[in-house]
Parts: sequence; C-alpha cells; structure tokens
Amino acid sequence: MSTHELYTIPADMATWDVEAQGAARFTWEYDDPRDRLLTLYQKGKDKQWDSTTRIDWSLEVDPHDCLGMPDEVIGIHGTRQWDRIAGDRAEVDRLKHHLASWQFSQFLHGEQGAMICSARIVESVPDLDSKFYAATQTMDEARHAETYARFLQEKVGLLYPINPYLKSLLDDTLSDSRWDMPYLGMQVLIEGLALAAFGVLRDMTTKPLPKQILAYVMQDEARHVAFGRLALKDYYAQLTTAEREEREEFVVEGCYLMRDRFRSQEVWSNLGYDVDECVQATVNSPYYKAYQSLLFSRIVPCVKDIGLWGPKVQKAYADMGVLDMAGVDLNALMKADEDTAEQIDAEKAEVARSAVQVEKTIAVGATA
Ligand SMILES: [Fe+2]
Ligand SMILES: [Fe+2]
Repeated sequence: MSTHELYTIPADMATWDVEAQGAARFTWEYDDPRDRLLTLYQKGKDKQWDSTTRIDWSLEVDPHDCLGMPDEVIGIHGTRQWDRIAGDRAEVDRLKHHLASWQFSQFLHGEQGAMICSARIVESVPDLDSKFYAATQTMDEARHAETYARFLQEKVGLLYPINPYLKSLLDDTLSDSRWDMPYLGMQVLIEGLALAAFGVLRDMTTKPLPKQILAYVMQDEARHVAFGRLALKDYYAQLTTAEREEREEFVVEGCYLMRDRFRSQEVWSNLGYDVDECVQATVNSPYYKAYQSLLFSRIVPCVKDIGLWGPKVQKAYADMGVLDMAGVDLNALMKADEDTAEQIDAEKAEVARSAVQVEKTIAVGATA
C-alpha cells in the first residue's frame, strides 16, 4: 500500500525540491584529523544498529493509545472543546490516534530532513574529519527514518504531512549557501528540539515498542548534537561580530518557528475543532508549559556553548521563558540517554534468558 493512502490530509504527491546553494567541496588533506572528531566517527561506526533486529516489532500497539499516556497531557484537556468530546470515548480515541500520528509523522519528516542535511554537510564542509563523521550520521538518520516510517505504517496506520513551521525552517536551513547553516539549523535547532521531545515521550510512555524506538534513536542523537557543538564552537570563535550576529538572528527566528511547531494545529483543524481555541488552550495548559521548557533544555545550553549568546538570543529565550535552561548539563543528559538505551537492551536480554530457562524447565518436566 502506498503511504499516500495513509495520509489523513492529502500530502503533496510530488517531491519537495529545495534548490541547492553553495559548493560541493573536495579536500586533498587526508592527514589532519582532530582527535575529538575521529573519536566520534569511530563511535558512529561502532554503534550502528539495525532496527529490523534490535527492535521487537512483534510488540502490539493499540493505535488509539500508542503511548499509554493519561488524557491530562492532551493540550485541550479541561477546556470547552474537551468538554464537548469527553463523554464520547470513540472521539477521544480518535483524537489520541491523530495526535500520536501527527507527532510521530513530524519525527519521521524531521529524520528525513536530518538525513538530507547530514548528506549536505558531507558535501559542503571543508574538513575531511567532519565529512567522515557526517557520513556516519547520514546512515544513522536513514535508520531513524526507516524506523519511524515502519512504526507509523505498521502500528499507527495514519500519517500527517510535514508541519509548515518545520518545513519553513528546513527550507531556510537547506537553501543557505554557508556550510555551517545545516549544522546550526539541523544539528542544533531541529535535532535539539526533537531530542528533547523524544526524551519526554521515552520517559512518559508506558508502552514498550515506542519506548525502545525512542531510546535507541536517542542513543545516536547524542553523538549528532556533540558533533554540531564541536564543529561550530571552533568555527564561530573565528567569525567577526557581524557574522556571529547573523547566526544569532537565524537562531532566534528558528527557535520561534520550533516553538510554534508543537501546537498540533493541523490536528485541531483536521478534526473540525476550533483551531484558535485549541491552540490557546494548549499554550496555557500547565502540562504544555512544562513540556515547552523541557523542549528547549537541549537547545539553549548548546547555543550558549557554541558562542551564539548575544543580547538578542538571550532576550528571545527570556521571552519564551526558557533562559534558565542555559545551565543544563548537556554531557550528563547525553550520558543518561546512552545508559537508558543500554538498560533496555539489558532488560530484553534478561527476559530472553528467563524464557529459555522456562522452556528448559518445561522440557525437563515433560521428560520426567
Ligand atoms: Fe535522527
Ligand atoms: Fe540526528
């Protein structure tokens, strides 16, 4: 079946073409690798995994309750719109199905964007060590897109087209000729936000399949964000103030786009709800407020770390209420992401061992 049949809102059948700007660069210097980047590249090669074998696709998913989260986390919970549907379980189920589909569809489109941006980095970045690393990331992102696509097609059964805000930021990121822009737009902003969103869902979901998927994808994303930080920190330190300010403006604009991307507008309108009322309710919901500040927990410290910390950026973060996130320890978060994925592997191995033990005991019993 074509994916187009699963789109709840018709998606454009044609490809979306962003005209490439800037040069594809070759380098003949094969002998000047930076240790930190090579370590990341080695790790990128060592830690490849295969979603076909590592993820337990036999786990069942109820499309109307993919994540097993309480109704209270729905942005419109407790509003007039909610009161209109709350007595109708079928409608609440339909809403939950659409919200999960919308969220995972954006993850999927974002992963495709990440794959294309990393490929662009391979092409345009001047140094060979960065090209090597970005090549492993391109493969990581292909595996992520494959994984989310399978989850949506086989388990959720419904897709949403790309969110206009995400599309706009991807367009800005890919249509810029400066080689650092795919890093800044993708590695720092889009991935930073996605990583935080994955983390909230990974930690809140009660369902094993989405938990595995999110944890394994996050294990790779920790390397991607580290790569963006390493490459940009070195480069931005050499730029003029004017050049840095241009990047800061891009960050401010991108962060507002990213903030607005999480309000599920397409779902409200697709289901025939009052969009303004639902967006307003979402923005004011206590769960969403906490969610939004968590969403920026990965971006804000990273932007500060790479040296884009001028007054405009700080003012925008203060306006969004996320300036405090500058103090978050990114390294500790990423270490925890890696540990979580390994913990899930260990638990799965334990379950498999007990199953073998039970079978052996049964076999011994039968023989006796
Ligand atoms: Fe990814
Ligand atoms: Fe990534």
